[in-house]
Amino acid sequence: MGAFKKAACSGLFLSSYHARIDLRRPNHAMPDRYAVIGHPIAHSQSPLIHSLFAQATGQNLTYEAIDGGSERGGFTRTLAAFRAAGGRGVNVTLPFKLEALACADESDEAALLAGAANALRFDGGRIEARNFDGAGLVRDIAVNLVVPLHAARVLLLGAGGAARGAILPLARAGAARIVIANRTADKARQLAADFAPHAGGCAIAGAGLDGLEGEAFDIVINATSASLSGADLLVPDGAFALAHLAYDMVYGKGLTPFLRQAQAAGARRLADGIGMLVEQAAEAFAWWRGLRPETAPVIQRLSVER
Ligand code: ATR
Repeated sequence: MGAFKKAACSGLFLSSYHARIDLRRPNHAMPDRYAVIGHPIAHSQSPLIHSLFAQATGQNLTYEAIDGGSERGGFTRTLAAFRAAGGRGVNVTLPFKLEALACADESDEAALLAGAANALRFDGGRIEARNFDGAGLVRDIAVNLVVPLHAARVLLLGAGGAARGAILPLARAGAARIVIANRTADKARQLAADFAPHAGGCAIAGAGLDGLEGEAFDIVINATSASLSGADLLVPDGAFALAHLAYDMVYGKGLTPFLRQAQAAGARRLADGIGMLVEQAAEAFAWWRGLRPETAPVIQRLSVER
């Protein structure tokens, strides 16, 4: 089921080609250059999203998709070349998010705790790193879908990079309890232990997928990569019975297996990761350009086109 993609990977997808969208303004000033670096990168939506943001806000910039290649050191070389050519910042997607954090001179707490960065900004000789995936998720849930996170009981499925990036933003948004559940239970328990000291008043627990019987949740989020392969998750139906929202970070045509199960098991509302993808892009755009673009028209356009 190759039709689904994951929003937490942000720019996500591949290319051996080098897309460039030129948004030169009538004032003929040289546009500022931005890019997404990943491997593969051809099907990335990021150039389209950022070009729509730039058009809507009148920003003079170009945004291209660059393949970092599969060779060792490919990301570092690609990044250095883009900086040397005058680049101002980049998004970073699979498989380079860990390297992106490692190359930074300064990172915020979200990136450090996620252990990964999805946006870099070049400030003179310095590289600053951020991870906006979790912020994008929270904004999509709370603002676009208008599902309150305050006091919510959240079930977060998965214990990989995507889940890791979501925990702190969900806790900071006021969730009362986050249960991290993973096929490999030990990884979920480790994540819970890592994040508990940073979660303020939010209780964080780790469990296996078979350790959820009898628990009720307001919001169930799929941060596993199971939907990418069309696999079922083996979550008990009861986890969805009281859910206001079932959210899959993966997006594509039609419902993922996770969303199909959630619908059948009684979740009141379903959402895929397209809004998260656009919201994390808007966070990066705002960080780079100093103004936040409207996301609703872009989400609408991507939803129609897929
Ligand atoms: P990402 O960076 O996208 O989060 P990852 O770090 O490879 O990707 O993590 C993938 C996550 O999806 C893991 O939590 C994985 O569970 P395991 O830790 O047990 O491997 C989960 N996952 C992938 N396929 C799955 C499936 N078919 N059923 C349940 N969980 C699955």
